[in-house]
Amino acid sequence: MIITLDGPAGSGKTSTAKRLAHLLGFLHLDTGAMYRAITLTCLRKHIPVEDTDAIARELEHTQLSFRGQQADAEIYMDGENVSREIRSAQVTAAVSDYCVVPVVREALVAQQRAIGARKSLVCEGRDMGTVVFPDARYKFYLVADITERAKRRQKELEAAGTHESLESLEQAMRLRDAKDSSRKLAPLKKAADAVEIDTTGLGFDEQVAMIMAHISTDAHEKFRNADAHTNE
Ligand code: DC
Repeated sequence: MIITLDGPAGSGKTSTAKRLAHLLGFLHLDTGAMYRAITLTCLRKHIPVEDTDAIARELEHTQLSFRGQQADAEIYMDGENVSREIRSAQVTAAVSDYCVVPVVREALVAQQRAIGARKSLVCEGRDMGTVVFPDARYKFYLVADITERAKRRQKELEAAGTHESLESLEQAMRLRDAKDSSRKLAPLKKAADAVEIDTTGLGFDEQVAMIMAHISTDAHEKFRNADAHTNE
């Protein structure tokens, strides 16, 4: 079974996806991490975003994998755990340029679908419900007020020992949102059949409970309908 979570940066996708995956025993597939890992290898090897041939060669021999507990899976690139390094400011600043390169999207979407064909997933990204898994069983689209999203990001950075002002975080987020939503290829967009959840002002447990309630109500209704048919 596939559950998709899309939405802008800081809308609470990662923490929510992790918890849902944990509760359901599914794999948490963080597709942003995959785009970040490819960006990291290109930055390390000084491959500019314009050099699509070199990027294509890099994609051919770069192995990405998720290892560890399903809900706490970490991303490995050619055997190296890059989970921390992909969150650096340099990667964060460059990823929205590398993720729009068509060969990058083609290669990563193919890998994401291959993983989904083998396992039950809670996957998060920007185009999970629209492009990668249009037939997913449950689709959610998370949104939140930009100031709240910047505050969440500030908290995360502070936990990691860095301080950034709210204004600069908000500005960087606006820029990334604009880039992600306005691009031609697989833009950030709510799928027509996705359920929108506004996480502004919601506690973490509340937002997880809202999604779980949606899933179990739906499952409940399906059982009831199946029952009704059997009794007809
Ligand atoms: O979710 P994140 O911030 O880690 O994502 C990093 C970047 O990757 C973000 O700028 C958008 C891009 N991305 C994408 O284009 N498609 C996805 N499915 C996931 C992320």
